[in-house]
Amino acid sequence: MNKEVISGQEIVRSGTSCLARVANRFSVVWERGEGSRLWDREGRKYLDFFSGHAVMNLGYAHPAQYPAMHTQMERMVHAGNLYYMEPQVELARRLVQATFGDRVLFANSGAEIVELAIKVARKWARQKGSTEDRFEILTMRGSFHGRTYGALSATGQEKHHQDIGPMLPGFKYAPLNNFVAAASAISNRTCAIMLEPIQGEGGIYPAEKKYLRKLRELCHRNNLLLIFDEVQCGLGRTGYLNAYEMTGVIPDVLLLGKPLGGGLPISALVTREDIAAVLKVGDHGSTFGGNPVAAAAGCGLLSELAKPGFLQGVKKTGAYLGGQLDALAKTCPQKIIGVRGAGMMWGMELKERGPEMVQRALEQGLVINCTAGNVLRFLPALTIGQAEVDEACKILKGILKELK
Ligand SMILES: Cc1ncc(COP(=O)(O)O)c(C=O)c1O
Repeated sequence: MNKEVISGQEIVRSGTSCLARVANRFSVVWERGEGSRLWDREGRKYLDFFSGHAVMNLGYAHPAQYPAMHTQMERMVHAGNLYYMEPQVELARRLVQATFGDRVLFANSGAEIVELAIKVARKWARQKGSTEDRFEILTMRGSFHGRTYGALSATGQEKHHQDIGPMLPGFKYAPLNNFVAAASAISNRTCAIMLEPIQGEGGIYPAEKKYLRKLRELCHRNNLLLIFDEVQCGLGRTGYLNAYEMTGVIPDVLLLGKPLGGGLPISALVTREDIAAVLKVGDHGSTFGGNPVAAAAGCGLLSELAKPGFLQGVKKTGAYLGGQLDALAKTCPQKIIGVRGAGMMWGMELKERGPEMVQRALEQGLVINCTAGNVLRFLPALTIGQAEVDEACKILKGILKELK
């Protein structure tokens, strides 16, 4: 396509005719991004509170990531995992330094890293020499772990299992924040419990600290791995580098993805030496996993998050965002059920018409998303300030008034 003559409308028309219809795409063609601003093909400016599904944690074209990505692109884009590459080693070293872990495994997406966690948990349980065949993993209702078969099987939402079965055997689901249900769902076949510290796709439901502490004890008592899927809520989004730090509970396996590559696909599993050791040479591999350009972006992200005051700023602006959304909810109890979240990850549950709100917001220059039916999801760049929060809330307030 020739950019000079093709309009946004023509791209949308062409896309509608040749892309499979698996997403309800909006009729907008993004052209450029900078910080938390996006420009469409026609040059219209938007305020972004979605960050491309919680990926652009530093906003678009951040100087801590882009120059490093360019430099690595020019040096070498790929060489494969039979060799060492500095950005990949450096990212692993920094992840070890910044977490409870000793070892890192890389993959390309959230779903893929969840697959790896399932594999690690099953292998770990078998190597523990139990008399039972322990392969079951307990996950939570409303969870979302990705779209591959293992990750989908782990996902506790039946709508994602419809018409594509049979799913991978070995998963049980319990309601989030119900310890009794979790304790009664485990058996001598269970090898792990996996959950998101804050459910994202499921509608922004935080796991309670007390509940997580009890799950931790349950795992200790029964020799189960506790796996935290921080693909969406990790890497600064909660105002903590790792979401588990907010909960006071340390998992055995930590899964990271989305923002790690500054928009390029990379994900990571971080764990202790004794757990990583269950995978022997040849037990796992990935052609692209830990790509050096994406890894260079990951190093940039970690450097920025480690800057003095950065996460403090995320906590402060995040609390302001939560407070403003809460205030908005109080003015509209007939339309808004409630507001949930932490840091820069908030959900506002409406009684109805969530998708319509998102469309209207877009028309007024605000990019948000709706999940789990009618939950408006706010995932701005961690770099936004109070002025952007005010701007977004003003638009939302206006739309809520318009909605009859
Ligand atoms: C918590 C969580 N885990 C896993 C995934 C899957 O990630 P990906 O789409 O990169 O495969 C997602 C995606 O939204 C997610 O939110």
